[in-house]
Amino acid sequence: MSDKNLLSPIKLGPYELPNRIAMAPMTRNRATNPEFAAGSIQATYYTQRAGAGLLISEGSQISPQAVGYPNTPGVYSPAQVAGWKQVTDAVHAAGGRIFCQLWHVGRISLPDFHDGKPPVAPSAVNPETTLYAPDGSQKPTVTPHALSLAEIRSTLDDYTHAARSALEAGFDGVEIHAANGYLLNQFLIDTSNQRTDEYGGSVEKRARIVFEVVEAVAGVWGADRVGIRLSPSGLFNIGAGSDNRSQFDYVIDRLNDHALAYLHLMEPFAPVDEIPNMIPHVAEHYRPRYRGTLIINNGFDQARGDAAIAQGLADMVAFGKPFISNPDLPARFAAGAPLAEYDQNTFYVGGEKGYIDYPAYSAA
Ligand SMILES: Cc1cc2nc3c(=O)[nH]c(=O)nc-3n(C[C@H](O)[C@H](O)[C@H](O)COP(=O)(O)O)c2cc1C
Repeated sequence: MSDKNLLSPIKLGPYELPNRIAMAPMTRNRATNPEFAAGSIQATYYTQRAGAGLLISEGSQISPQAVGYPNTPGVYSPAQVAGWKQVTDAVHAAGGRIFCQLWHVGRISLPDFHDGKPPVAPSAVNPETTLYAPDGSQKPTVTPHALSLAEIRSTLDDYTHAARSALEAGFDGVEIHAANGYLLNQFLIDTSNQRTDEYGGSVEKRARIVFEVVEAVAGVWGADRVGIRLSPSGLFNIGAGSDNRSQFDYVIDRLNDHALAYLHLMEPFAPVDEIPNMIPHVAEHYRPRYRGTLIINNGFDQARGDAAIAQGLADMVAFGKPFISNPDLPARFAAGAPLAEYDQNTFYVGGEKGYIDYPAYSAA
């Protein structure tokens, strides 16, 4: 046990953070303009939350191919860079730090986002789910197009370009989104990756693209300003792989060689004790294996977050939903103030409502 808690400072990469509270990446679908650019409403939203030791932006698509949800911001075009610059300038003026989550959804998309063409994936395996189309209707997913080797190379170029765009936009770092059943997670898991070339088969080959992305992005930013998010026991958007445990053991062991800013792990959304080769307690399993800064997330409150830090199970804790309705979450933790409830109906729609109208405690 240590005497550290969520409110203790920490060094993350080159940054001195005032506390160990990260705001988890959360898609809020408010980039309602033809350019899919962030702008003044996002600047207000993130600045209200700048008391977090680290803000992690909502997933931001790295290319037009990478999108799968309505009105999510991109991080590849000049208009998007200019939009995010408004956000990062405002966050910095408020004393905060913000990383950009680099996102490619892979097969979790619809032809409606791609001029009628199917989305892309490691293999032509339909995720068999329903998604929201740009017009707001719900539609079933289709069988995706399996990326060719040349298309994988151009996807890596898209990661490099998006990483450069994020740098130009004034972010403090980037988080590679390799969790929650999206493209990189689809490569890792053998239900969605049935390739027989150098990107499929063994745990090493399925992980290949993840390390190529890490190297491409770290080549732009330096490893100490790059984080990566993984969901080793995740079942969101993806079936359980036959060998999740050995797959993620391999990936996380090898991440030790890259001296990244952090590894951001998610605990499972639902218990996985009954599923073979899954990891019921992610932080307990991976803390001893990972030598760098570890952020843990999913369902934490202040007491559990403090305990995770004091026990050394993680270095930081990311909070998602609590930050939606409590923009001043760290100050509330410091004051022992009550938390406001969030309204799920405005997570993904509503403009300013449910987005920038939750008051800070002192004003509540
Ligand atoms: C509205 C909403 C949007 C989310 N969008 C993202 C996202 O863009 N990228 C991501 O990695 N996770 C996303 N998540 C997952 C959160 O980062 C987090 O893992 C989850 O909310 C559990 O943490 P919590 O219990 O503190 O809310 C989202 C969650 C919510 C509620």
